[in-house]
Amino acid sequence: MTNLTVAKLLKSKPLQEVEIKGWVRTFRAKRFVALNDGSTLNNIQCVVDFENTDEDTLKRITTGAAVSITGELVESQGKGQSVEIVVSKLEILGDSDPETYPIQPKKHSFEFLRENAHLRTRTNTFSAVMRLRSSLSFAIHKYFNENGFNYMHTPIITASDAEGAGETFRVSTLDQKNPPLNDDGSVNHKEDFFGKETNLTVSGQLEAETFAMSLGKVYTFGPTFRAENSNTSRHLSEFWMIEPEVAFMDLAGNMDLAEDFMKSVIAYVLEHNKEDIEFLNDRLLNEEKTKPQAERSELSLTEKLTFVTENNFKRVSYTEAIDILRNSKPNKKKKFNYIIEEWGADLQSEHERFLVEKHFKCPVILFDYPADIKAFYMRLNEDGKTVRAMDILFPGIGEIVGGSQREERLEVLKEKMAALDIPEEELWWYLDLRKYGTAVHSGFGLGFERLVMFVTGMTNIRDVIPYPRTPQNAEF
Ligand code: 4AD
Ligand code: MG
Repeated sequence: MTNLTVAKLLKSKPLQEVEIKGWVRTFRAKRFVALNDGSTLNNIQCVVDFENTDEDTLKRITTGAAVSITGELVESQGKGQSVEIVVSKLEILGDSDPETYPIQPKKHSFEFLRENAHLRTRTNTFSAVMRLRSSLSFAIHKYFNENGFNYMHTPIITASDAEGAGETFRVSTLDQKNPPLNDDGSVNHKEDFFGKETNLTVSGQLEAETFAMSLGKVYTFGPTFRAENSNTSRHLSEFWMIEPEVAFMDLAGNMDLAEDFMKSVIAYVLEHNKEDIEFLNDRLLNEEKTKPQAERSELSLTEKLTFVTENNFKRVSYTEAIDILRNSKPNKKKKFNYIIEEWGADLQSEHERFLVEKHFKCPVILFDYPADIKAFYMRLNEDGKTVRAMDILFPGIGEIVGGSQREERLEVLKEKMAALDIPEEELWWYLDLRKYGTAVHSGFGLGFERLVMFVTGMTNIRDVIPYPRTPQNAEF
């Protein structure tokens, strides 16, 4: 493997002999090969001496073909690039049949590219999205590393349903057609692989709490699985979540951490992924032009990202938010699908987006939600009816972060679990944390793909993960 990439070549001084491998994007006038190797959005132009190249090789320089090119890097004669390669040797490494190759040099719909997800990263849009996804992952680890957090790997197979929503994928090796049964006819999970019912994790939080209560500051970054049957542009059945958890930190500290963290990782990609962001910015501008004026976004992608890094998130209690929503135009004119009538209503994505996009016009942190609409582990407030929960809402996305201060009082937690029929035997270890050295602690979960959507301006979550898992779809 040589270390030379197109990205490096484009920044190199001319007048040197180079060798580069990549895929042909286009071949123009039997002369100009636009070569891409994925290291950057940009292609390097390679000029073929067609008079001295045999006809067979020329025919095989087709879109999608893998080639190795040797030649001299020179100052470019044409517009649009500073350097180009004058080819002295071109070797076809892998042919690509132009009759059947799906990724032609023209505009393809995202639906078509989803069906060809194994090849879609050969387009500018998807390679830019995936480079940004990679860069964001790095920025996330960097942020936590620089702030004294330990990266913990929590189990993927668990026996608990942390969010209590009953949307888990079962893990079992029992014979589906003929499972062992108990006397009452129910499936006997004692004979299953783990000797009990298990599922794929919906969140690493409960285990992360055990590490926060020993290592102080920890985070997880791993896959999570939810069998929600929601076919929306913001839900995946398999998605990646980042979950920091910190001992001795209350809800206010949790909000500070989340805001600082979000700003920091977005600032990182603004600085390090300029080309890709600019490309996606222009793509979005073009897409917006096809929409009616009223539906167009006021800010461009780059402006939106910069706005987030430079402005404070607005902190608003659930109660204030309900008042705003109740008195809002779309509520009064019954434009919302779910009309907000009273305190206690769960907020739908249409309400979250109204608050962020129309009312406050900036990222919003909603806190102190009604206990009834949030998970069992959240710290009950002194009013006895709200919990120290927080959701961060982003423009164009809605909820991007969900978190809370955790209930650290053993008795209160036990009462809550009893009320929700969560057996203590299942979470004995979680309760132990409240028996031995309990303390205030908090954390949150950031949906990684929703962050990638925000940063790339992509509007469908299926287009920011390599191979989306959604109801009725597990191709690739
Ligand atoms: O709000 P959620 O359900 O919170 C938790 O799981 C907590 N245990 C986190 C914690 O406090 N440690 O999920 C957190 C985030 C959401 O805000 C959303 O961004 C994302 O995960 N998310 C999804 N992303 C894609 N597809 C889905 N089906 C998602 N469900 C949640
Ligand atoms: Mg949530």
